[in-house]
Amino acid sequence: MRLYPPGRRTLHHGASRAHAPARRGRSRGRLPPGASSGGPPVTTQSVSEELLRLKNVRKYFGLPGAPWRQAQAVKAVDGVNFVVRKGETVGLVGESGSGKSTLARVATRLLDPTQGSVEIGGVDVTNVRGRKLRPVRRKIQMVFQDPQASLNPRQSVGTILSTPFRAQGIRPTRAQLVELLQQVGLSEEHLERYPHEFSGGQRQRIGIARALSVKPDLLVCDEPVSALDVSVQAQVLNLLADLRDELGLSYVLVAHDLAVVRQVTSRLAVMYLGTIVEEGPADQVYSAPAHPYTKALLSAVPVPEPGVERDRIVLTGDVPTPIAPPSGCPFRTRCYKVQDVCATVRPVLEPVHGSTEHRAACYFPEPPPPERTR
Ligand SMILES: Nc1ncnc2c1ncn2[C@@H]1O[C@H](COP(=O)(O)OP(=O)(O)O)[C@@H](O)[C@H]1O
Ligand code: SF4
Ligand SMILES: [Mg+2]
Repeated sequence: MRLYPPGRRTLHHGASRAHAPARRGRSRGRLPPGASSGGPPVTTQSVSEELLRLKNVRKYFGLPGAPWRQAQAVKAVDGVNFVVRKGETVGLVGESGSGKSTLARVATRLLDPTQGSVEIGGVDVTNVRGRKLRPVRRKIQMVFQDPQASLNPRQSVGTILSTPFRAQGIRPTRAQLVELLQQVGLSEEHLERYPHEFSGGQRQRIGIARALSVKPDLLVCDEPVSALDVSVQAQVLNLLADLRDELGLSYVLVAHDLAVVRQVTSRLAVMYLGTIVEEGPADQVYSAPAHPYTKALLSAVPVPEPGVERDRIVLTGDVPTPIAPPSGCPFRTRCYKVQDVCATVRPVLEPVHGSTEHRAACYFPEPPPPERTR
């Protein structure tokens, strides 16, 4: 769906790709504990090409000093299974500090996981390092949150766009660099300019062009519009949507604001304190959130239909420290439905609302709205 009139661009590869329709089916019952560790259950979609698979990924940041202090490590990502298939735009959402950026960096192999594995294009690349990462970088690229910080101020746009080519051992032609700029709505005259000469939105376009240079299949965009004015956010999201349709790109779109990614995501994963607490087709999660955390986050998002309002659920208290997350359910210290059992064993993702693809990690998931009860 377009949010803003398009700018003119030329294209270098690929054709538009239809998304596989989301399959709905009856759940055969709850999965046994731990059954989520292999990723989502096999569905019609899972036969399509898998671009990224994270298996039981943990990323702990240790504290400096004696080894015993490692027990106090920051558990930024704590047991995540995550799959992205060709043609998908997956929204990865959650409050600040929930581990989204760390997960994005592990997925793009900018960080090593502490535990678990990273598969890109069906190949396990968890232990691939140095020059051997070149083919991986051709498949998956990252767009960073702050275009000001992620672009070297001393390099011209031409040099910035050349860097990923050179990392692959390729010397780009001027025509290739101009084509990249045109793809993101900029032009040849911008090639010799420096980042400070651009607006925030234009700088993010340069960051996107840099990520596109090696023609990746998957872009992981870490809060790509959070640093931009609201009026510019829609333009950049439109650009991403157009590139998806025209180049056949897939995305992981990281955001702390669910409203921002609503129009462009086909699937949603909600993170809290280093774990995914709910995931599913975006329309299902937005219209019928099952996890109390998702419900609370969504209650703050305006409903697009005039006159319709959600009851606001105000989350009290801060996100607990990831050094010592609560026992059992990580959300239990802020949950409006908490019961004793929630402090025992951490709930795992299980099918909800009769859909094998919509899953939540909660002992007392919210029921579907009346019209969806089967
Ligand atoms: N390099 C690091 N060293 C120590 N702690 C870190 C590091 N990077 C992130 N963290 C911590 O990990 C947690 C998750 O951070 P982050 O992945 O940036 O979350 P988000 O992107 O959702 O805001 C936070 O508590 C953050 O302070
Ligand atoms: S498991 Fe319990 S504490 Fe956790 S979200 Fe569900 S009801 Fe709330
Ligand atoms: Mg972040």
